[in-house]
Amino acid sequence: MRYIEANGYSLEVGSLLDSSFAQLLEDKYAESKKIIIVDENTHEYCLEFLVANFDALSEAEVIQVPAGEDTKQISMATQVWEALSDYEVSRYDVIINVGGGVITDFGGFVASCYKRGCDFINIPTSLLAMVDASIGGKTGVNLGGYKNQLGVFSNPVGLYIDPEFLETLPAKELESGFGEMLKHGLIADEELYRDVCALMKSGEPIGEDVLIRCIEVKNKIVREDPNEKGLRKILNFGHTIGHAIEGHYLNSQPLTHGHAIALGMVMEAYLSVKVNGLAQAMYLEIEAFILDYYRFPKFSDEDIQAMLLLVQNDKKNRAGKVLCSLIPEIGRCTYDIPVRQELFLEVFLHFKNQQLNLN
Ligand SMILES: NC(=O)c1ccc[n+]([C@@H]2O[C@H](COP(=O)([O-])OP(=O)(O)OC[C@H]3O[C@@H](n4cnc5c(N)ncnc54)[C@H](O)[C@@H]3O)[C@@H](O)[C@H]2O)c1
Repeated sequence: MRYIEANGYSLEVGSLLDSSFAQLLEDKYAESKKIIIVDENTHEYCLEFLVANFDALSEAEVIQVPAGEDTKQISMATQVWEALSDYEVSRYDVIINVGGGVITDFGGFVASCYKRGCDFINIPTSLLAMVDASIGGKTGVNLGGYKNQLGVFSNPVGLYIDPEFLETLPAKELESGFGEMLKHGLIADEELYRDVCALMKSGEPIGEDVLIRCIEVKNKIVREDPNEKGLRKILNFGHTIGHAIEGHYLNSQPLTHGHAIALGMVMEAYLSVKVNGLAQAMYLEIEAFILDYYRFPKFSDEDIQAMLLLVQNDKKNRAGKVLCSLIPEIGRCTYDIPVRQELFLEVFLHFKNQQLNLN
């Protein structure tokens, strides 16, 4: 079991059975109602393990929401708040989020707003949630085509990362998690970047060592800057364009979050060459790896116009300027770099014309 110092809560990596989870339920929530939020997949693959192994959960109420990004909506949150109210859940009870990043984002938001804040515990079950989404206290839902427009910073009382849950995760979702693992390397640790690339190429199971190194990158950044006043913005590398791609294709040919971010990263690495001093050779190395691993959707001129609009309305922008986090080299990232709209058009056209690895 690996114990990692987090922002005032337990972050443990290893078997849930050996963790402090049972003790936490007993010490703090013996008299409390326990509510478990799952989606249909984590209901099928993860819930039974919890209920069978933790006596305290034998009478837990289970709230199931649909799997997928569409769940991150205020209308769905309202339905869950009504269910909590029907179950007479009080602010002294505890919500346990069991799922991928959709469930930890959504469940954290639901818990944080319910009766002005109810405790929650995160048990991430997708790779992406383990290395990224469940850590750092960002919770929220989408609004229209824009991601995470409504939300609050709020930390869980416990975060338990048990790699065993990855056993049932579909390959496409593993690839998605790799996208954020690559990001952690690209922004903070060159050696980690190369190790994640090697792991992805090898197809071998994910070792706990590399998983923990990724968790530590994210955790260190969010501890230093919990409310994204400065440093934490580096975690947004790839996200200005990545969120535009994810949002634009959501209803036609949805991409997983990590896939969209991987495409966003290669495109923002291109911007990094133009405005942040990234050496062309490093860019070409990133491009070769990402384009070999992830497929690009075909961009039409209409797609590009729609995505440019999404970029222009990105929530990180200030005073009409699009501000990006870009890498001057592999393993380092700087933030709040203004990027002109013409340059975004250039990068979209570059990738349209390259026609590499197209579906
Ligand atoms: N809060 C943050 O800091 C942060 C950071 C990165 C991403 N995110 C958010 O995370 C979300 C993406 O997370 P995700 O990729 O985990 O998506 P997800 O929650 O939709 O999970 C992906 C799929 O895997 C399934 N699944 C999860 N665990 C499983 C398991 N053990 N076995 C079988 N199936 C399983 C889910 O049901 C779903 O179908 C996005 O909404 C993104 O915005 C948040």
